[in-house]
Amino acid sequence: MLLEMKNISKYFGPVAAVKNVSLQAAAGEILGLLGENGAGKSTLMNVLAGVYPADSGEIFFDGKKLEHMTNKKAREAGIRFIHQELNLVNDLTVRENLFLGEELTGRFGIVDRKEMERRSIQVLRDMGLDIDVNMDVRDLETSRKQLIEIAKALLFDAKLIIMDEPTTALTNREIDMLFSIMRRLREKNIAMIYISHKMPELFAICDRYTVLRDGMFIESGRFCDIDEGRATELLVGKNILNEVLTKDPVPEDVLMEVKQITAAGKFEDVSFHINRGEIVAVTGLHGDGRDFLAEALYGVCKIDSGEVWINGRRLSYKSVKDTLRNGVSMVQRNRKERSIIKDLTILNNFSISKFIADGSRRFVDDAREESAFLARKEGLSIKVESHNDYITALSGGNQQKVIIARCLELDSSVIILDNPTQGVDVGAKFEVYKIITQLAREGKAILIFTQEFPEIFKVADRCLIMYRGRIVKELPRNEFNEIDMMGYAVGAKTEVRHATV
Ligand SMILES: Nc1ncnc2c1ncn2[C@@H]1O[C@H](COP(=O)(O)OP(=O)(O)OP(=O)(O)O)[C@@H](O)[C@H]1O
Ligand SMILES: [Mg+2]
Repeated sequence: MLLEMKNISKYFGPVAAVKNVSLQAAAGEILGLLGENGAGKSTLMNVLAGVYPADSGEIFFDGKKLEHMTNKKAREAGIRFIHQELNLVNDLTVRENLFLGEELTGRFGIVDRKEMERRSIQVLRDMGLDIDVNMDVRDLETSRKQLIEIAKALLFDAKLIIMDEPTTALTNREIDMLFSIMRRLREKNIAMIYISHKMPELFAICDRYTVLRDGMFIESGRFCDIDEGRATELLVGKNILNEVLTKDPVPEDVLMEVKQITAAGKFEDVSFHINRGEIVAVTGLHGDGRDFLAEALYGVCKIDSGEVWINGRRLSYKSVKDTLRNGVSMVQRNRKERSIIKDLTILNNFSISKFIADGSRRFVDDAREESAFLARKEGLSIKVESHNDYITALSGGNQQKVIIARCLELDSSVIILDNPTQGVDVGAKFEVYKIITQLAREGKAILIFTQEFPEIFKVADRCLIMYRGRIVKELPRNEFNEIDMMGYAVGAKTEVRHATV
């Protein structure tokens, strides 16, 4: 066995994040590490990678006992960790980021730029990426940044690579690319520990699984012996996959009307409407302009021409405050870059949008905010010790739930959700779907931007498919099917679409 972690425990103050957990991984296998948000997955991996010391337990790796671990020692032993959150320095170039803290030196300790450049170019080429190693990281899209994080782990010879939700910001094509890299690594006898909340991914790429719940070990086994239902049951304690969300089809009663909006170079001539009580999904592939469209509807990406109307009023998009006041709220994609404010507490992160929207309010009503948060915490099962802690004390998925809660609290008539369930576990995903279905029943309009087909199938009444900045197809629920949807998304199928407004 390449890796054996025995009876590991890790506490944060009184919180037991990991309790007496044992885990094994063999060379040349991909182990899926599963568990709900806050189950202890990242913490256990942080212990393995020397980020935190364990409070008790032992780790054996490659025939040796690892003791007094530090990040550096873990790397020297051949353990690389692709963290859940991005750790790149925006002001440095791609090459500088790749070798940050691990600069290569030649004779006399002189930094060997040439060699670093050569290896940077090589690793990106091996990954099939066309990225200039001398550009600043800040100019890269988030998905590319995530790929740079992955490249960092491949630069050095590793025996074990830990990937903590590496695909949350990746496009489907990039995910396929990552999987082929992983298969190549597996052939080279490298072990990988793969953390994800996306069941299809886990079943596609992993050999074995280990499940944690509430910081404790639940079960290990082979993926070929279980199905998604069983995996869900192990995670959550019950099978929720078969529960259906039902919502009656809605009559035409237009709430939001988007008329021929264009943002040069981003999307073009986009028109659609959304009815009261309707859930509309917008999907497509990388480069479809979907992300810009979502931002434009919220007012953070400028529209060059066209109009957006809500309830018979035209939106001015003067400021986000204005958009919020006109009844449009949004969960933005890429939590760490766009949504969370690291230096604020959980409660402040939760109430900030409401605070901005009610700009005229002079006093902050702590008690009211607290009780509002507690209600949402219950509804979304947010795992939090104290809401006065910094948001960074929460696990990734629980941070995302706080962001969703923040948006729901605004009680807007139009709710835009861009990749809303990133990093959210299966159980909580289902809670989110239940909540938005309920909001739709109450007459709100929900616009969900996503590339996850299961999400669309679960909740949407209609689906708009984008290709290269245009909406190329609209499908009603009874015509949803993955093959057609994919066909339109890749541009293989096209149709001149007549405006629906
Ligand atoms: N730095 C920290 N300070 C205090 N508590 C923490 C810290 N990091 C994690 N925790 C707590 O430890 C528990 C486990 O968190 P962890 O991040 O390991 O969960 P996870 O399984 O990775 O969840 P997710 O799927 O949401 O990423 C949570 O209750 C979390 O709030
Ligand atoms: Mg985590």
